[in-house]
Amino acid sequence: MDREKIKKAFDTAQEIVKMHLEEFQGGFPAPASRNQIYPKIENNDWTAGFYTGMLWMFYEESRERVFLETAREHLISFDARIDRRIWVDHHDMGFIFSPSCVAAFQLTGDERARSTALKAADNLHSRFQEKGQFIQAWGLLGNPDEYRLIIDCLLNLPLLYWASKETGDMSYQDVALRHLQTALSVLVRKDFSTYHTYYFDRETGSPACGATKQGYSDESAWARGQAWGVYGIALNYPHCPGDELKHLWKGVTDYFLTHLPADLAAYWDLYFMDGNEPRDSSASAIAVCGILEAYRQGMCDSSYVEKAEEILESLIDHYAASPTDTGNGLLKHATYGRLLGEGIDEYCLWGDYFYVEALMRCLHPGWHAYW
Ligand code: GLY
Repeated sequence: MDREKIKKAFDTAQEIVKMHLEEFQGGFPAPASRNQIYPKIENNDWTAGFYTGMLWMFYEESRERVFLETAREHLISFDARIDRRIWVDHHDMGFIFSPSCVAAFQLTGDERARSTALKAADNLHSRFQEKGQFIQAWGLLGNPDEYRLIIDCLLNLPLLYWASKETGDMSYQDVALRHLQTALSVLVRKDFSTYHTYYFDRETGSPACGATKQGYSDESAWARGQAWGVYGIALNYPHCPGDELKHLWKGVTDYFLTHLPADLAAYWDLYFMDGNEPRDSSASAIAVCGILEAYRQGMCDSSYVEKAEEILESLIDHYAASPTDTGNGLLKHATYGRLLGEGIDEYCLWGDYFYVEALMRCLHPGWHAYW
């Protein structure tokens, strides 16, 4: 794909976010839009970091102070969030604190952002369950009804690797690697499709059964879950290099790629490959980032990059918003939870974020993402 096209798409995304900055002053877009408009919420959901992360990318590319200043203002709310424990009793510490606070520290050396992210890493570390060797995703620690891990958590592990690097305390990394080992051993099926979540026996720690929360069925492959697998394995690879992860990555990625419809924007569950079910364009954006990261890590050959660029080009041509649209998001036709009735065929904040991250990666192949 030619660079001009990528740059134009990036600039359009930046323009749309800038047009709506005022609307979200003092708050954040909700996880998903309603009728294509993101409501404004406080910093109290798993998606707030994606908004700040987009601002950091726009700042990196444009050096416009408005993005720097707005992202900096957000940092206060992230620190308050972890200190006051506002909806942090779950595993999503990486999604929330990596693209916001780790990014702030990396880009500006902000010490408070570093300390906020380290507190978030402590919180994630505290969710590790010795019995079963995994980080419990949701709910009260030890609750047998919530004694499970989820595939999304692969993206939260880099916060632990980062915390070990920053502090020299290797227990963060140790927990991340033990979770990784457990998660990959239970989540990836023989055909390389993936479970969304996996339960363990509270008393013995033995693996019990796979289950879905957002997918079509327990045995199907929820599209975004599969995409979290593509990106998550690639992000963990530098900390656990070797043929085993490469092999898993290839299998999980090939499964995703061979279950896409003609225009390469995934249906919300890979069980569907045509028809009128809603799409989850965010899954395709996540997978693009995962493939580009895998290539950067030497996990795959350039044929995968060609496929990633094909997907991204389709997103640009058919799914990207324009500044004249009435909505306030970037990547159309994402789906949060089809059977939960949440954010169906809407903008989703992580879809916007990973779309921008994919563009940034293509603009600057050596660029280091915030994970
Ligand atoms: N991590 C939550 C989701 O993908 O919906």
